[in-house]
Amino acid sequence: MTANSDIPQALIAALRDARHVCILTGAGVSAESGVPTFRDAQEGLWAQYRAEDLATPDAFLTDPVLIWRWYRWRRDLVTEAAPNPGHYAIAQLADLVPRLTLVTQNVDNMHQRAGSRDVIEFHGNLFEDRCFADGSLQVGDDTTAVPLCSDCGSNLRPGVVWFGEAIPEQALNESCAAAADCDVFLSVGTSSLVYPAAGLADLARENGAKVVEINPNPTMHANSCDYSLAANSGVALPKMVNLLAR
Ligand code: OAD
Repeated sequence: MTANSDIPQALIAALRDARHVCILTGAGVSAESGVPTFRDAQEGLWAQYRAEDLATPDAFLTDPVLIWRWYRWRRDLVTEAAPNPGHYAIAQLADLVPRLTLVTQNVDNMHQRAGSRDVIEFHGNLFEDRCFADGSLQVGDDTTAVPLCSDCGSNLRPGVVWFGEAIPEQALNESCAAAADCDVFLSVGTSSLVYPAAGLADLARENGAKVVEINPNPTMHANSCDYSLAANSGVALPKMVNLLAR
């Protein structure tokens, strides 16, 4: 493992030779946009809550009004924020390699706003409304404390994956297939604590890919990576893309 913030030439060479690059991102890639990560101490209105206490079906059943206030607060925060150079570098990278698969744990739409296409939303999307009863995609009335399903009258819920819920099957299958097929796997801005997303790097390694971690706070998986870049993604990714584009 090489641990520093400079981009090793061997990594650029591996990216240059790659048929297929797979990237997994986490909340850290949006940190430089001012979007709080999950495991930073929460600031502001919700300092007293653990994210896990708000992101479960039981919490929604107990107090849907509170949960909707939290998710609308996050929607507003994300809407006011903007993608950062890390998001844009990932969108550019897609044009520099034969095939790129982008899997994100983030629900903030930032990759899409930066121009990334075919983003696999592993944990859903913050801006979607879904029927709590059957999970169908709906359009909620934002003026009500808890919007209702126009088909069955049930409460609507934000279209994100909550703790204890399954990953959308198509997203899971496509992500595993890409991790198993890629030549280079980049794990960017994630604490690699939440499974099954945190298992994708192992799957890539087991299938012969070079595994790279980009995180200013190297995770417990850093030692099993080929490259660990202890850097902010908004700094390391543009550097990497500039070197690759030369
Ligand atoms: P975490 O908050 O667990 O981890 C964010 C990681 O980003 C940390 O390891 C930070 O060191 C790193 N980081 C901070 N600033 C960074 C920067 N500028 N550049 C690069 N990295 C930076 O967030 P996730 O790993 O995304 O799931 O969390 C995984 C899942 O747990 C989330 O998708 C969410 C959460 O509970 C669900 O809600 C289902």
